Amino acid sequence: MIKVIKVKDYDEISAKAFEVMHELISEKPDAVLGLATGSSPIGLYKLMIKDHKENGTSYKDVRTYNLDEYIGLDRNHPESYYSFMHRNLFDELDIPEENIHIPSNVGDIYENCDDYNRMLDEANIDLQILGIGSNGHIGFNEPGTSFDSVTHIVDLKESTIKDNARFFDNDISKVPTQAITMGISNVMSAKKILLVASGENKASAIQATVMGPVTENVPASVLQNHPDVIIIVDEEAAGSLWKQKR
Ligand code: GLP
Repeated sequence: MIKVIKVKDYDEISAKAFEVMHELISEKPDAVLGLATGSSPIGLYKLMIKDHKENGTSYKDVRTYNLDEYIGLDRNHPESYYSFMHRNLFDELDIPEENIHIPSNVGDIYENCDDYNRMLDEANIDLQILGIGSNGHIGFNEPGTSFDSVTHIVDLKESTIKDNARFFDNDISKVPTQAITMGISNVMSAKKILLVASGENKASAIQATVMGPVTENVPASVLQNHPDVIIIVDEEAAGSLWKQKR
């Protein structure tokens, strides 16, 4: 079941998302988190860091599993998801490095997919954080991905490459064309899922996710089949949903 929370702007999305995160960490200090990259969760991550620094909330027993990673970028490249996560979260919290898991794009990537699936099978993620692509992708599961998919290699859609060019000097030729991503069935195994979306370029994907048919053409629509999903959107991402009862 999807619960949609509509708020005014990005800051309110982050504050609401932090409430959900904080409740979990308070109740279960050794929680297992599924984490996402992209601009959407950065506000949440900032609040986690602020709370850790100001109130001493500890993440020392938390384990994390990231959704995805580009293929063909060194992990020290500033736009690798390894760098992104360390810069925006891990470097500022007390999660031991051995508790952090990000799909590896080094060596035999098919083998890495199998290894990651084995880890996820044992992990039992308590809370999976998600953003959403403007085409409805979650992680890097592009439209058309099987709902039964597990960690796999993907060819990124042109729209995703264009969307993400902003992180690569707006130069499409610099954006990796492939990635390794958790599959949809891995995502759906999480006990609770929290998706955050902001801005009008997410409105049609959110509308299709919440109101549309459950279809592999809109990967996020699978969330309708999950028992515990919260989607937090701002006015712009809510689009026409905003006009409906709040
Ligand atoms: C990338 C990531 C997704 C993320 C999406 C949206 O494609 N693989 O996990 O949800 O970007 O990013 P943003 O939040 O910056 O709009």
